[in-house]
Amino acid sequence: MFTRNFSLLCAIAMTTTGPSFAQENTGEAEVPRTVAALPDTIGKFEERMPPAAPVSSATITADIDPANAQFGVGQPATEEDIASINIDVMPDGRGLPPGQGTYAEGKAVYSQSCAACHGEDLEGIKEIGAPKLIGGRGSLTDAKPVKTVESYWPYASTLFDYVHRAMPMDSPGSLSANEVYAVSAYILGRAGIIGDDAVLEAKSMAKIKMPNADGFVSDPRPDVTAAK
Ligand code: HEC
Repeated sequence: MFTRNFSLLCAIAMTTTGPSFAQENTGEAEVPRTVAALPDTIGKFEERMPPAAPVSSATITADIDPANAQFGVGQPATEEDIASINIDVMPDGRGLPPGQGTYAEGKAVYSQSCAACHGEDLEGIKEIGAPKLIGGRGSLTDAKPVKTVESYWPYASTLFDYVHRAMPMDSPGSLSANEVYAVSAYILGRAGIIGDDAVLEAKSMAKIKMPNADGFVSDPRPDVTAAK
């Protein structure tokens, strides 16, 4: 393996020691310019032959044992690194972080960080593309269903997950867990799903029953059914 890699290095070294562009232009070291030979043409069609297929270096890289490869880049992820991106919250509330927030605190977060796009009254702003967040309950079977957090989303924990990872759209990830609990309490309170005196934290959030919780049917893939 060493000799093979060594000869490869030599080959690279040789190609880089040829006449450089700068030398050609100084006029001192006169290097006659040559035109690359044109490829052969194919018989009566006079089309150029395709160039020879490049030879893959796969046989050489295949010799590298990934377990022992030392490329000298990167560093092991620390527990904090992993924690900062391991933020998914499951429908049953698993993954909800410590912290808590109230309707009143959420009202302040909302007007500071959300109202500019979603409207003072959570009614959405069409021109921005920011949807209405509440209302539309019972409209899902209408010709024009109004899908909002209130009318459509089956789990309250998804509100935490989504806002925590994706909102405010112009600076996602900027809100603390407490602020996300608070603004969730405000949105769910305005939707009439919880009272405006509720304090949201991991446990209480997981217990909320959303109006459309039973509006979805499960769609097990055929292979899952077959395995049963
Ligand atoms: C800069 C504008 C902007 C700001 C600020 C903003 N949003 Fe949004 N938000 C959007 C847009 C645009 C979408 C639609 C994204 C999409 O459909 O992919 C959205 C989608 C959402 C949704 C999903 C609604 C649905 O039914 O799909 C929620 C919930 C939400 N935002 C909550 C918030 C909260 C809470 C805040 C404040 C903490 C916030 N947003 C701040 C622009 C914004």
